[in-house]
Amino acid sequence: MIPIRSVAGRRVWDSRGNPTVEVDVTLENGAMGRAIAPAGASRGTREAIDLRDGGTVLRGKNVGQAVSNVNGPIATALIGQNASDQAGIDGVLLQLDNSPLKEQLGGNALVATSLATLHAAAAGAGKPLWRHISDHYERTPLIPLPEIQIFGGGAHAGRRVDIQDFMIMVPGASGFDEVMEVTSEVYFAAGDIMAQRGTLAGVADEGGWWPMFRSNEEALETLVEAIEKAGEKPGDRVVISLDVAASEFGENGAYTLSLEDRKLDSGDLIDMLGGWLDAYPIASIEDPVGEDDAAGMAEFTKRFGDRVQIIGDDFVVTNAALVLQAAKNNACNCALIKVNQAGTVTEAVEAFEAAESAGWTTVVSARSGETEDVSISHLGVGLGSGQLKVGSFQRSERMVKWNECLRIEDELGSDRFVGGKPLAGTWWGQENLARR
Ligand code: PGA
Ligand code: ZN
Repeated sequence: MIPIRSVAGRRVWDSRGNPTVEVDVTLENGAMGRAIAPAGASRGTREAIDLRDGGTVLRGKNVGQAVSNVNGPIATALIGQNASDQAGIDGVLLQLDNSPLKEQLGGNALVATSLATLHAAAAGAGKPLWRHISDHYERTPLIPLPEIQIFGGGAHAGRRVDIQDFMIMVPGASGFDEVMEVTSEVYFAAGDIMAQRGTLAGVADEGGWWPMFRSNEEALETLVEAIEKAGEKPGDRVVISLDVAASEFGENGAYTLSLEDRKLDSGDLIDMLGGWLDAYPIASIEDPVGEDDAAGMAEFTKRFGDRVQIIGDDFVVTNAALVLQAAKNNACNCALIKVNQAGTVTEAVEAFEAAESAGWTTVVSARSGETEDVSISHLGVGLGSGQLKVGSFQRSERMVKWNECLRIEDELGSDRFVGGKPLAGTWWGQENLARR
């Protein structure tokens, strides 16, 4: 039992220059934990809501009320509570705000408080956060396989292309450090190709190259070229991962590829993506159809679930009940875990456990609006999720999370790196493993 002495909220700023909530939790023994709420741009409609003040100040995005909620009702309720009892702490938060989308106190106020308490409990126990998490939840810590963005798109790049994330994974690497090296080569090879073509135009929200392409396919072709230019054989040590984020360009089973001015129904979109799975070394695909298209998700998983990892992000929004429902319908085979979609650590861990109980894989994920907060690196390792998605290979709000994994790898040892393992079903990794 380590009681909480104080809870203090303040306004800080995220990687897009938007205001967000930081919380410091200090314990009676002097230990302190701090966390900052991240913010999404392509948000699921069923995820916890960030409370923002509206009006004209800061384009309506100010978080004055959310910060007041931390310093008022949240602090009052948490002072004296046992910081080591994360479920108890989160239970108090949920009693204060029992609205389904946490719009009363704000998902941003709640997630920063919940994570700061987790940090404080770790500090109070004298453990690094990842170790505290693995001990607390009785998990085997693992160094995760990252998904790293090379080109941004969708809501992160002014909808310049429809697909949101063109990423690579390096499961053939022998450790996290090697993943970083290979990624650097691919990332800059992609930049060089764009520069040669006169299409290099800065970076998107998560640090991936700005997608100056004529089609989504051109982005995929260029990614394959970049992998080759980096001296790798696509589909061998390096594979492609996509976040389609289809809710951003369609609803009710009707989709519009704005780049090509092309209308698709759910079946057309599934056929198009299926064609990409045949043509490109894609190992993982996220939100292939819209969050409201459960039938499309089930159809996609029926057709391709034995070949690729199919991640539900907007579709299951880190919600245990939605994960279990999707599992019952065989509507994907992997859950993206974003703590701020759930609103509290406990609920995020419940969604994580629901995914595991369904036999799914999991990816712990950042948001497009991020900060120097490294909680998710520790959650990825401590929960033994196996995969981590943080954005690209540029800008410190991204690199800080990769670098934290390197430090943890130094401590844990690269034999705890999950690379080379098949991620879901019989995806490409099985063959690759046999060859190793
Ligand atoms: P967001 O997107 O953080 O902008 O919502 C990230 C994702 O879709 O994975
Ligand atoms: Zn997503």
